Amino acid sequence: MKALLNNDVQRVVFIILLVLSNSCLVLSQKINFTEHIAPIIHQNCSPCHRKGESAPFSLLTYGDVVKRAQFILKVTEMRYMPPWKADHGFGEFKNVRRLTVGQIATIKVWIQDGMPEGPKEKFQLPIFEENSQLNKKPDLVLSWNKKFTLSSQNKEDYILFSLPTNLKEDTFIKSIEFRAGNKKYVHHARLSVDTTQLMRQTDAKSIDDPSIADFAKVRMKEEFWVGWVPGNTPIEYPKGTAKFLKAGSDLLLNVHYAPNNLENEQDSSVVNLYFAKDTIEKKIQTFILHEEDITNKPFEIAPDTVITFFAKSQKIPYPIHLLSVQPHLHLLGKSLRCFAITPNGEMIPLIKISKWDFNWQMTYQYKEPLLIPAESVIYAEATYDNTSKNPENRFNPPQKITYGWNSTQEMMNVIFQYTF
Ligand code: HEC
Repeated sequence: MKALLNNDVQRVVFIILLVLSNSCLVLSQKINFTEHIAPIIHQNCSPCHRKGESAPFSLLTYGDVVKRAQFILKVTEMRYMPPWKADHGFGEFKNVRRLTVGQIATIKVWIQDGMPEGPKEKFQLPIFEENSQLNKKPDLVLSWNKKFTLSSQNKEDYILFSLPTNLKEDTFIKSIEFRAGNKKYVHHARLSVDTTQLMRQTDAKSIDDPSIADFAKVRMKEEFWVGWVPGNTPIEYPKGTAKFLKAGSDLLLNVHYAPNNLENEQDSSVVNLYFAKDTIEKKIQTFILHEEDITNKPFEIAPDTVITFFAKSQKIPYPIHLLSVQPHLHLLGKSLRCFAITPNGEMIPLIKISKWDFNWQMTYQYKEPLLIPAESVIYAEATYDNTSKNPENRFNPPQKITYGWNSTQEMMNVIFQYTF
């Protein structure tokens, strides 16, 4: 017994020594940009921090990073960058944008050490496809016929664009990417499919335009595809799955423009479609939990209150596989949690966002298609803060807030993509 114990102690001491010697090895070689920092930046920052993408400056070269080193240290330590709002440990996601503790520490030590560049000749610029977050050439690029001139009347504007695909055959779509043209004023966009071609008459018209009063009727039939807000990057559907697009369909884009009072402010946004190259066995479906599903109606937020709404789905009639989740609240949103309860009473975590941030609303893709057994119920809880303590509250004093598309009104949507 004693011998065994001694052996174990020896083993532990040996392992500790091994770990220590390894870390000394790392420490004795100074952290440098080319070998240690560039890979972290190129993988986690450059996809957005490069020309033509959403971020305001590039982070690619040694010069780019040195220039903003202190700022980078701050935003990575705070975990403000890379943007990722889903709480760690509640739902498992594929497209996680999160630096490890080790990566953050590496950046810190490198800056404290005076930011050595390292072997210059080993530096390689990452290769990115221009005009695509997916880093791939789209198979079909759709845009407006001519640039759209925004209203200068300082009001929120919702404009419908009809984009004929002119596809001669039914097509399976692997990824859908909306790319805002005028990044300053394109606030968000909603993309759906119009198989009737009726909406061509709505092209570039405001949803308030009396000539498209039938819109609401047609909308009942159109199929919601994706919602885009800044920071949202497209997902690729897993092998064997894709969105189905009927031949001859039009895409219908509802673009929300933020108020502006400038003459001649223009936009020409783009939709990239990527076709499926694999054999498709399952079509992607969409399911939305929304305001009508709340159990504590009405969906109204009294001034000076903090309130949580509880939404509940019907029993899911058959097993489904969830692929992604995209919560959508507006400015008063504070937090959100979503889960499923199976018929055995087991809880399946779907997503939790403890610090809701209106500016970063993403489509979170599950690591593996997530099985939700038949007869399960999906729940969502969202908390809103309509007090003057909420810095995002645009009304002072606070006012009663009800449902609406404007960002100063409120919404509660949780959008799921799934297959059977
Ligand atoms: C999904 C896209 C995306 C990724 C990935 C990303 N950024 Fe950003 N970043 C942005 C956008 C957009 C802004 C401007 C809006 C803002 O500041 O919130 C920004 C702003 C910043 C700022 C300025 C912050 C401020 O307050 O003005 C810094 C510094 C920064 N990013 C560093 C990084 C670093 C370092 C990484 C990687 C570890 C990274 N970003 C990853 C999109 C991204």
